[in-house]
Amino acid sequence: MKPRILTIDPNNIDIGLIKQAAEAIHNRGLVAFPTETVYGLGANALDSRAVTGIFEAKKRPLDDPLILHISKIDDLFLLAKNVPPEAEKLVNRFWPGPLTVVLEKTDMVSDIISTGLETVAVRMPSNPIAKKLIELSDVPIAAPSANLFGKPSPTSAKHVMDDLKGRIDIILDGGPTEIGVESTVIEFVEGRSIILRPGGVEVDLIKEIAGDVEIASEGDHTIKSPGKYPQHYSPNAKVILVEKGPQQVDELLSQVKRLTSEGHKAGILASQGHEEYYKTFNVKVLGPGENGEICASRLFHLLREFDSEGVDIIAAEEINEEGLGLAVMNRLRKAAGPDPE
Ligand code: TXA
Ligand code: MG
Repeated sequence: MKPRILTIDPNNIDIGLIKQAAEAIHNRGLVAFPTETVYGLGANALDSRAVTGIFEAKKRPLDDPLILHISKIDDLFLLAKNVPPEAEKLVNRFWPGPLTVVLEKTDMVSDIISTGLETVAVRMPSNPIAKKLIELSDVPIAAPSANLFGKPSPTSAKHVMDDLKGRIDIILDGGPTEIGVESTVIEFVEGRSIILRPGGVEVDLIKEIAGDVEIASEGDHTIKSPGKYPQHYSPNAKVILVEKGPQQVDELLSQVKRLTSEGHKAGILASQGHEEYYKTFNVKVLGPGENGEICASRLFHLLREFDSEGVDIIAAEEINEEGLGLAVMNRLRKAAGPDPE
């Protein structure tokens, strides 16, 4: 029966279980594992056939490049060359952790990983299970988020099972992930530092280290970036966003009343404190609207919960874009899909 689920306590790691997973990596297997952001679906990055298996299992388009995961900073220089000083400063400050750097690739990185680009994305995760798995595998591990392409990223082993059951070999179940949204992806182009995807490391912290940083606009298709597929991170339900401001609650209520009268099964994603206004409806609390960290840690789980309840429209309150709130709003906008105008 696929997959084998190996339950591991991140605070008291059973090395024997990680060795089994590392062996599977060496045998072209696909291993889902927890990182501090979301669960990843890993394969040996030096084995093109194993990497191809990732794309097949996720039904991921072959032109969407993968992140390579390493367990020590020195390995970055095997995979990337001409590393600019800002990139080096950033990895020294934030690794291990939720930061992915996009750099010029070396010949060690195959085209299937970089999908024909001259660059490679690299990250060193801090989750102890992820670190040990990469260390014992003794190869870089290629790993996208362990969901079916386009679905919300998995923040628990159950989410991975729901999407990839029967399609992968092992799941290392290390409990729910801490951060809940994916890593911040940053690229360096001719002296500019450009954030391609806001994520687990806040933009303000990156600016403290790298100085001037640009944020790629969500509709910018000139940059090969995670924004390339406008509809992403989507639950089965359609997502609609309701702007912040004094009218937010009234506006959301009127939309949900209308949708319900049209026969929709609506769900509401509310900021903490607003749930009482919506109590006659199916409401879930994302977190305090000013606390991006809490909202990030719950977002994908709640989107999936609405799906499992058969909700077909989720009306979500926009939250404050400070700190991790920026990543939360980026994911919600992508889930809502391109603006119809
Ligand atoms: O937190 C994370 O980053 C998780 C965990 C498992 O590490 N991984 C993750 O991978 O979110 P994935 O594949 O779901 O998202 C990585 C994004 C992709 O959308 C891809 O387009 C972008 O990073 N990416 C990868 N390589 C790139 C490159 N060379 N240039 C530009 N974007 C790249
Ligand atoms: Mg993904």
